[in-house]
Amino acid sequence: MTKFDRRSFLKSSALAAIPALSISSAFANSKPELPENFNASDRVVFRFDGAQLSPMEYLNKLQKINSESPIQMDSYGKGGVVEALEKKFAEITGKEKGIYMPTGTLANQLAIAALSGNQPKVIVQDISHINRDEADANLVYNKQLVPLADNKTYFTAIELEEKIKRLPSEEYFYSGIGAVSVENPVRRAFGEYIPFEELKAIKKVCDEQSIKMHLDAARIYIASAWSGVSIQEYSSLFDTVYISLYKYLGANGGAILCGDAALIDQLPRQIKIHGGNIQANWENAAMALHALDTIEQKWKDVKKRSDELLASLELMPGISIRAKENPTNIYFLQLPENLQIEQMSKRLFEEFNIQINANPNSKDLMLMMNETLLNQPLEKIIQAFKVCISQS
Ligand SMILES: Cc1ncc(COP(=O)(O)O)c(C=O)c1O
Repeated sequence: MTKFDRRSFLKSSALAAIPALSISSAFANSKPELPENFNASDRVVFRFDGAQLSPMEYLNKLQKINSESPIQMDSYGKGGVVEALEKKFAEITGKEKGIYMPTGTLANQLAIAALSGNQPKVIVQDISHINRDEADANLVYNKQLVPLADNKTYFTAIELEEKIKRLPSEEYFYSGIGAVSVENPVRRAFGEYIPFEELKAIKKVCDEQSIKMHLDAARIYIASAWSGVSIQEYSSLFDTVYISLYKYLGANGGAILCGDAALIDQLPRQIKIHGGNIQANWENAAMALHALDTIEQKWKDVKKRSDELLASLELMPGISIRAKENPTNIYFLQLPENLQIEQMSKRLFEEFNIQINANPNSKDLMLMMNETLLNQPLEKIIQAFKVCISQS
């Protein structure tokens, strides 16, 4: 391929071959070491889903938000800006109610427990956060996870239907399925999103079997920008939807869970039982609520810029780009054999304030696109790569 063409690029890319599992070594749960001038305002950081503010930036931003419109405090998650955030997310997702949660893990677990009632089984993707990264929290709720689609991004509607039909004959004392949970986009598959048509087909199977559905939509705004499917369209297929407040919405933590009022109203007691009822949550809620005003447009801009940057990088000698079949904000740059990646990383940082995640053992450079891509003119970023790739 000589010229970057988005469609053919995506189809011909070979990243589908990159195993989902290798993400654990790539960036799962890693808290990065931040260099000293990390928080310069023109930094471009190809390492996270969001801007990762320093304490000073965080405080300044909170102060600015407060000076524009004084932040109303909550008390144990009730009232004030927390309530405003819950209402806003209910509107965004098209659900009756939203509820603030201290973590996404608790949101996921409480949602699948509430949806499945007395039925013990919950079907999940094998590589989902619920199955791989929540410390078997389902055992606390007496739920048994049934993982589908080993090491793959998602299970298809056909695979789900076959499993549902097969289960009763696979067990002597069959117990029922209470819920199906879907993660989209999929963190351990480098942010790959699930085709909307497939989600609709999965929903049809669940409806036919009267099975409730939960969406782990931690990064749904990113999926939405790349797939063109709105948050409300995604949410309409699911009974409950969880969205993270800290991955790219600027908060330091927290999550929102949306669903029917009857379900959401059961949850305050459950949050308390599990030790998640925090006295003041207004800082997180204020940061996220503020970010919601611009987040959709921001991700659209990031996607456009990301496409343009990748097209230019692809034209540079010795460079090729790989992506998942349905990628979001994560791409892999294959660099020339003789390139010194640590040297390139140092130069990009010191001369251009661009940060990459240099891995000396790999010629594949993982680029995570986020809002910092908008901090410098595109031409400047392209020029920086040109210089550092040709001279490292
Ligand atoms: C897809 C997904 N779901 C859920 C979570 C859990 O979020 P929290 O860290 O708020 O518990 C994460 C966090 O990394 C995630 O990536």
